[in-house]
Order: sequence, then C-alpha cells, then structure tokens
Amino acid sequence: MAVFILVLVAVFVLCICSALLRWNEVRYRKKGLPPGTMGWPVFGETTEFLKQGPNFMKNQRARYGSFFKSHILGCPTIVSMDPELNRYILMNEAKGLVPGYPRSMLDILGKCNIAAVHGSTHKYMRGALLALISPTIIRDQLLPKIDDFMRSHLNNWDNHIINIQEKTKEMALLSSLKQIAGIESCSISQPFMAEFFKLVLGTLSLPIDLPGTNYRRGFQARKNIVSMLTQLIDERRASKETHEDMLGCLMRSDENRYKLTDEEIIDQIITILYSGYETVSTTSMMAVKYLHDHPRALQELRKEHLAIRERKRPEDPIDCNDLKSMRFTRAVIFETSRLATIVNGVLRKTTQDMELNGFVIPKGWRIYVYTREINYDPFLYPEPLTFNPWRWMDKSLECQNNLLIFGGGTRQCPGKELGIAEISTFLHYFITRYRWEEIGGDKLMKFPRVEAPNGLHIRVSSY
Ligand code: HEM
Repeated sequence: MAVFILVLVAVFVLCICSALLRWNEVRYRKKGLPPGTMGWPVFGETTEFLKQGPNFMKNQRARYGSFFKSHILGCPTIVSMDPELNRYILMNEAKGLVPGYPRSMLDILGKCNIAAVHGSTHKYMRGALLALISPTIIRDQLLPKIDDFMRSHLNNWDNHIINIQEKTKEMALLSSLKQIAGIESCSISQPFMAEFFKLVLGTLSLPIDLPGTNYRRGFQARKNIVSMLTQLIDERRASKETHEDMLGCLMRSDENRYKLTDEEIIDQIITILYSGYETVSTTSMMAVKYLHDHPRALQELRKEHLAIRERKRPEDPIDCNDLKSMRFTRAVIFETSRLATIVNGVLRKTTQDMELNGFVIPKGWRIYVYTREINYDPFLYPEPLTFNPWRWMDKSLECQNNLLIFGGGTRQCPGKELGIAEISTFLHYFITRYRWEEIGGDKLMKFPRVEAPNGLHIRVSSY
C-alpha cells in the first residue's frame, strides 16, 4: 500500500512539474522570438546555467544555434554567442541596446554609476572618467603612486605562506584608493575595505531587502562608503589644500571641463573602485597561477623584468618607458585573460521591441553578449587550451575585431591601460623579488566567476 501511495505521489509531482514547464514555455511563445527553452516559472534555467556553466551554453547552442532564448538570473534572456552579432549589439547602444546589469548591482552602485546611465549622460560621465585616467595622467600621476604602493604591498612576503587571492584583492582595492584619494594603508583604508567587500557581495546577490541578506548588507555598505567619501570631500573643502589625485581633480570644478555634483563624484569613485577591482585582482591571481605552472613563460618574463631592473637603481620607480618595454608582460596579461576568461560576457537590455538577427526581441528583455567561447576558437588561437603568451607577441592579435576581453563599442573598457599598468607593476615586483610554489589542494572555480573558494595559497621565498 505504502509503495502504491509513493508511486502515486511521484506521478502527481511529475505531472505538476511537466505542466509548470509547459505553461512557462507557452507563456513565452511569442511570435518571432528565437528558439530556446525557458525552464521553470520564476527560476527559469538559472540552476542549470550556474551548475553546468559553459557546458549549458554549448549544449543550448548545439540545439538552438548561436542566438537562443532562456530565462536566467531572474530575467527572460537572449543569449548571443555569434561574434558578428555581438559586435553589432555592443556598437548599437543608440538603437536601444543599453546595459542590462541586475537590479542589485544598479541599486548598490548608485544611480549616477556609468552602467546606470545612457545617451548624453553616459557620454558626459565617461568623458569625466577618461579625463582622470588619460595616458598623460597615468604617466605623470598614477604610475608613481602604483609603483610606490606595489613596492610596499609586496614587502615581507619572504618565508611566508600567502593567500595570493586575498593579496591581489587587497592590492586592487588599496592601489585604487591611493590613486583616487591618496589613501594609504592606514586607519581609513581598513574600514573602507571591509565595507567595500560587503558592497561587492551585495551587487552579486538577489535584490531581496530583508535583514541578513547580502543585498541589505551591500546596501548598508554603500551608505557607509558614501558617508566616508562625503566626509573626505567636506574635509578637503574646509582645508582648501590642493590634492594631486583623482578626487582632487574631480573637485576642481573651475579648472575641470566636466563639472560633477558631489553625488556624481561619489558614484564615479565607486565606479572606478568596482570596475577595476575583480578584473585586476583575478587577472593578477591567475597570472601567478599560470606562471607557476609554466616555468618557461616565467623564465621569459623574469628576463624582461631583470633587464629593466639592470637599467635602474633599486629605488628607481617603474616609469612609462619601462611599461612600454614590457612586451612579454602584456602578452602574459592578455593570455591570462583569454585562457581564464575573467569576463564571460556583458549584459544588455532592450529599451523597445526590436528586430535582431531576424527575430523580434521584446522590450525589457536581457541580452547576454556571451564572449567566452571566442577565447577558445582554434582558428583565432591555435591549441586554445594551452597557455601560450608568445601568441600575443604578434601585435595584430590585439587588434582583431573579435577580441572582446575589454568589451567593445561605446562601452569598451576605459580602464584597460590603467589595469594593465597595475598588473604589470605587480608582476614586476613579485617575480623579481620572489620565487614561489603552490601549497596544493586549493580548488579553482572557473564559472560564473573565476575564484578560489578557499583561497590560493603559495609558499614564497626571496631570490
Ligand atoms: C584586466 C582588467 C580589466 C578588464 C578585463 C576589464 C574589462 C571590462 C569590460 C569587458 C568592460 C565592458 C563592460 C560592458 O560592456 O558592459 C569594461 C568596462 C568598464 N571598465 Fe574595465 N576592465 C578592466 C580594468 C578596469 C579598470 C582598472 C578600470 C578603472 C578605471 C575599469 C573601468 C571600467 C569602466 C568604468 C567600465 C564601463 C565603461 C562604460 O560603461 O562606458 N576597468 N571593463
């Protein structure tokens, strides 16, 4: 009898499940939509997407082609894996293909954040940002600060077991704080860092505003960061001192072509901190990982950096000419970003019903411009799963149309050269001072974000 009831319950549950799946498919069966499946009501195919990662994308592409519909991370979504179409989407924001980042991210990063604004406001905020990180400013103001920071950040690692994930995260944030407001590793940077880490977690969470959720904590962290930055701005105004840093530049509205309100200044600072944080830290960590696993590449890199050191006194900082001469370092950075796929893709959404690739995409749908697979295209990158920085020594590879490591179109990463400068300077001091080996046993996750859930531990010793 018990078995019979169990079978009956199982059949009933199965019927309910298939009815729900069917209902969800019918709900989204609008004329003109691309093929694909929508999964469960509300949850869609999020679990499959997160669990199977890139394989989910590949399987769906095998069934439905490079342009298919799905329902992931709380939204009906079109996934585009077609290189030509991806370029078109990124180039045509003006036609109504605006950034489509999740609510939690936009709420926590602020309404003046660059990803939250479009059209002329985006142009203005982007212009104001580019003015802070122009090649001349990188050369004259930022690079000396980065050099100074890296030297001290990498002090005293000798004979220690270091969690390189933690160190590169601290490095990315603290180096930015120094460039933005001259904040050194001191009283304000530690509480700032704690709040910033909560803010980052909040942006990656579901927007559920309940006590104890990452979203609520992230939102509170934003408030705390805003109040710290407001206090800093007020103190600077009261002191009338001038400061040669990003905040100083943003506040000198009389000399500055771009005049931002305090709210815009604060969101601009949060933008810079947030955009350069995970990208720079994860690329640095993965470069350390790949160099550890590929001694020949490490040897070539050391040769490049020791040659730079030989031209200088120990106290001389890395300058712009040194950076230009780091050709192999740049190749290591590009190869690391490619092979690890630090950025899987970018998100857009439609502001109106629009035709794309012969399909009609409804207003408000998200488009996942999924660029990961291009990184493993054997025609572009022979033996794509091999770490081979030498391939980037041919400069034309950096200029090819399909390269979207730093995005493309009107939103192409404005911090590309700054990020490369930071990672290069970090690598310079790391590999010229230390040798290292992995402790072993640390797990590395590749999707949806590249991370070592329990850290990546290395044993470091001086040369
Ligand atoms: C290795 C380092 C980096 C990588 C791989 C990277 C990657 C990217 C990508 C793929 C985008 C395009 C996003 C989109 O289209 O929606 C982007 C945009 C952006 N990046 Fe970076 N980034 C890096 C470093 C930095 C740094 C150091 C900064 C600091 C200034 C920065 C600031 C930005 C900003 C503000 C945007 C948005 C631009 C806009 O919307 O107009 N990035 N980045």
